[in-house]
Amino acid sequence: MNSVVREPVPQLRAMLPGDLALVADIERRSYEFPWSRGIFRDCLLAGYTCLLIEAEDQPRGYGILSVAGGEAHLLNLCVDRDWRRYGFGELLLAELISRARSAGVRQMLLEVRPSNETALRLYRKYGFRPVGRRRGYYRAEDGREDAVVLALRLVPDE
Ligand SMILES: CC(C)(COP(=O)(O)OP(=O)(O)OC[C@H]1O[C@@H](n2cnc3c(N)ncnc32)[C@H](O)[C@@H]1OP(=O)(O)O)[C@@H](O)C(=O)NCCC(=O)NCCS
Repeated sequence: MNSVVREPVPQLRAMLPGDLALVADIERRSYEFPWSRGIFRDCLLAGYTCLLIEAEDQPRGYGILSVAGGEAHLLNLCVDRDWRRYGFGELLLAELISRARSAGVRQMLLEVRPSNETALRLYRKYGFRPVGRRRGYYRAEDGREDAVVLALRLVPDE
């Protein structure tokens, strides 16, 4: 008997209020200190770019970008545990970079835990470079953890 191996075929679309329950489930499975559903709702209400990636007709990941004052800020990027390493994170990030560029912003910024080697690798691959550190930015089991601030320049230096 032939077995057919199917690659997950992803699709990007805007996150909608009806997605929030599943998005919050992915978030809870992914982070020790997850965002609440209300935070995602606020991001939608604020008009942030809230992008969803679907495969097999279900949300599998998302990215949230705010654009203001000539800068874009990546606020969240997440792929559900069982759907990692299929390139979904990269697809989301590349699309958000493209949207930031289209919005004409100078640079895209983000915070990441220095212990998050997986995310750091992804951001480095896309040209993000460290530009600072925020002391005690994140909650951690044993207190607080710093954030590394990464930036990607989207226009050439003057
Ligand atoms: C970071 C995250 C979004 C990556 O999503 P993903 O869909 O698994 O990533 P991709 O398959 O698109 O991988 C793209 C790149 O990321 C890096 N990467 C992803 N998973 C990795 C792993 N397990 N080990 C090392 N590098 C990894 C690699 O550079 C990879 O490129 P490569 O395939 O050429 O090596 C995902 O791991 C995640 O949701 N983590 C939990 C939430 C989180 O930490 N988000 C970031 C907050 S700042």
